[in-house]
Amino acid sequence: MRKKIIAGNWKMNKTVEEAVELAEELKRCYAEQTAIDMVLCPPFTALKSVSDVVSESQIRLGSQNMSSEDGGAYTGEIAHGMLKELFVRYVILGHSERREYFAESDALINQKVLKALEKQLRPILCVGETLEQREAGTTEQVVEQQLRGGLQGVDPMAFTELVIAYEPVWAIGTGMTASAEQAQEVHAFIRGLVRELAGTEAANAVRIQYGGSMKPANAAELLAQPDIDGGLIGGAALDASSFGALIDAATEA
Ligand code: PGA
Repeated sequence: MRKKIIAGNWKMNKTVEEAVELAEELKRCYAEQTAIDMVLCPPFTALKSVSDVVSESQIRLGSQNMSSEDGGAYTGEIAHGMLKELFVRYVILGHSERREYFAESDALINQKVLKALEKQLRPILCVGETLEQREAGTTEQVVEQQLRGGLQGVDPMAFTELVIAYEPVWAIGTGMTASAEQAQEVHAFIRGLVRELAGTEAANAVRIQYGGSMKPANAAELLAQPDIDGGLIGGAALDASSFGALIDAATEA
């Protein structure tokens, strides 16, 4: 049995004060819950404050990006050591917004994945096709290329730590969700590919989140699919009641 994982990707939202308020609200209800893994990914500027709020709880901290370098002259970047110092456990890597607006390649994302694993941070590796690619019938090719690229050199044993997020680009922030069947189909494909790349044990262990307009109204159906192990949540993670409803849905799934 894979433990479900719900992560909130707050993107470029929330001041420190707002971030602390949201984290505190969530902590009030979920500090002790261990049925699922619950992760908050605030912007870098709020990591320290949110870390202080959740430090004595079961709520885990994630960052939205990480440099592939150890440190030094890389203006604007954040290194693994800086994240670990704040008790960050997860790092979102290769989000479609990073790929699209910041030209992140599969090769760079792969370096980040390998660095994160080397430093005992858990990567959440994001993959997904655009609407154009889906309509052209190339969803599986696109996802396969992103996974083969991003997972190059990853030890089969690491799939117990690494998380994959399937996020169809056309569903992110658009209100258009992949249907449960559409999502399950790609999730099963991803698990099959992990089996091919790293073996059956790795495929059975790896958790695959769905992301893209997941909200309380559609979560139960998505989370009931055999290969959907959780969610990476954007918009609905910015509010304690909707994020809480997603935690509840995952707990009951
Ligand atoms: P969304 O974002 O839930 O707002 O669609 C998901 C994501 O980008 O991780």
